[in-house]
Amino acid sequence: MLPLKEKDKPIVQKLLSAGCCPRCVLRFCCVSVQAAYRKPHQETLKELQAFIGNAENGKSQDSVAADSTEENNKSHDAVVPEPADDPPSKRAKLELSRTEAPPEEDAAAAAAAAEDKLKEAEPGVCVVCLGILQDLCGTSQAVKIAEKVKEEKYEFDTLVLSVSLPAQLCVREHSCWLHVKKEMREKSMAVDKDDVVQVKEAFKWVLQGLVTKEMGGVAVVTRSLFEVSVEFTHPETDADCHFLATTCADCFRPTKNKQSVFTRMAVVKALEKISDAKFLKHYACPPAKPTCSCSSQDVQCLHQSVFVAGRYNKFCRTLPQTPWVIDGERRMESSVEELIAAPVLTSFRSDGFNFSSSGREDVDVRTLGNGRPFAMELLNPHRSRLSRAEMKQLQETINNSSDKIKVRDLQIVSREAMGRMKEGEEDKTKSYTALVWTLKPIQSEDIAFIDDIKDLTLDQKTPLRVLHRRALAVRPRVVHSMSTRFLDSHHFYLGMKTQAGTYIKEFVHGDFGRTKPNLCELLNTDTDILELDVESVDVDWPPSIPE
Ligand SMILES: *[C@@H]1O[C@H](CO)[C@@H](O)[C@H](O)[C@H]1NC(C)=O
Ligand SMILES: *[C@@H]1O[C@H](CO)[C@@H](O)[C@H](O)[C@H]1NC(C)=O
Ligand SMILES: *[C@@H]1O[C@H](CO)[C@@H](O)[C@H](O)[C@H]1NC(C)=O
Ligand SMILES: *[C@@H]1O[C@H](CO)[C@@H](O)[C@H](O)[C@H]1NC(C)=O
Ligand SMILES: [Zn+2]
Repeated sequence: MLPLKEKDKPIVQKLLSAGCCPRCVLRFCCVSVQAAYRKPHQETLKELQAFIGNAENGKSQDSVAADSTEENNKSHDAVVPEPADDPPSKRAKLELSRTEAPPEEDAAAAAAAAEDKLKEAEPGVCVVCLGILQDLCGTSQAVKIAEKVKEEKYEFDTLVLSVSLPAQLCVREHSCWLHVKKEMREKSMAVDKDDVVQVKEAFKWVLQGLVTKEMGGVAVVTRSLFEVSVEFTHPETDADCHFLATTCADCFRPTKNKQSVFTRMAVVKALEKISDAKFLKHYACPPAKPTCSCSSQDVQCLHQSVFVAGRYNKFCRTLPQTPWVIDGERRMESSVEELIAAPVLTSFRSDGFNFSSSGREDVDVRTLGNGRPFAMELLNPHRSRLSRAEMKQLQETINNSSDKIKVRDLQIVSREAMGRMKEGEEDKTKSYTALVWTLKPIQSEDIAFIDDIKDLTLDQKTPLRVLHRRALAVRPRVVHSMSTRFLDSHHFYLGMKTQAGTYIKEFVHGDFGRTKPNLCELLNTDTDILELDVESVDVDWPPSIPE
């Protein structure tokens, strides 16, 4: 039974004759009993017609409203008990038989005929929701959604349904609101347009249960990592919004990525500004009848990103960290991020990724030791969880795929935790080993003094080789300690523990005096760097995973 009250009658009457569908009538009557929307709309129509039919007869329908509170309460989900007398379906039938009496020989046939007649008598596509709360939110829509989700083989616990409606629905809603506003305020049903139940909300109330059913019990909730979107368009009435551009030019500014300036938000803004009189001058009230329903676009599925972190080793001096492209041309066949990402994307069946790391090494630098922390955002993963064993196997697949890189501590992390990698990056220390060449011949005694240098502060002007992408500045950086290992008269290994962000190559060769002091000055000879390895990146994230 409908949770409507006597005072709703004139409004129901007015809305029905304006061409509103039954669910839109309920919306404008501020009915927030979800169950009322879940009934087949044809059935609701019969009940509404019976309801106002009775009103015409001056018959009291107080019983209909028996359980309805003064203000419809959102959390009030009870179904109003059916009144004992004169069920509305019968009422509708009686009405019909008045207009065109069906052959009475068979009661069932009569009922069927009445049913057919009712369908014919239906007011057609709703002038307000353009069919969205009619046949577009039934089982076939739920089936369409369920099929799409199954076809894409997503793994998820719950889903959230989102719906995108054509912007002109706001214009039609406004027109309809103006149509009944006076009566509604008189009856203190709704003092504000916002009191009316939204199309979107009613749509979800109807569809959520149907989707749950089609998907074998999956909970459709209001917040979920997995979102299924349905979009409706209605080209026939797109022009409904156009007059607003003349009343509020400021509201409609061309934006990137949008096909039309008449976005829902812009239309809502323009409607807030326009006076009732002006609106009524430009737009029909109630809105004009459309010839067809909205068309529903492809169902879109999107799973929120999953974040994966770990540490990588790079054992190769011809591998850039990210794809190296100069003037649109690729310079190296692979990269650290691609070697890691390929198996990860496959495992999570993800559409794409976004790679970040705690600093980066040059293409000719190896990263040894425990490796460099990295994290990846996996976009639209169709799978969002891996067991520990599966994670280990994924790590093994990456390790096996190439000798150039290895990963460890691979794990799923939260978006928030990812920030830990970047925070305080400059304060962290990194350890390096450089193979140094000297112009002047050396003996091990010549370099021994370097081992005693502690906390040497360098002033590093932005290196020439990175000037094209980093601002020119002088950055102070600290070399905490150094150690040397003599190799031959022109070579030695230099171990360094430095503040993150120190340019090691520039410290060794001096970068034409742009880094001061530098190793050439310390040793009083030209020095150059032949090889560089990162020995450790001292960031205690992500947590290590015991084997
Ligand atoms: C709605 O119901 C809730 C819980 O039953 C109650 O706390 C609230 O006061 C009610 N509001 C109205 C307007 O009746
Ligand atoms: C990748 O990450 C950057 C920085 O966090 C962000 O600005 C960008 O939007 C991300 N890209 C995608 C496709 O998510
Ligand atoms: C992958 O290689 C790294 C570095 O050698 C190692 O620490 C890790 O245990 C390996 N993981 C697996 C699963 O093979
Ligand atoms: C990795 O390689 C080892 C040694 O060849 C092999 O035993 C193992 O099955 C491989 N693992 C994966 C996941 O490919
Ligand atoms: Zn409607």
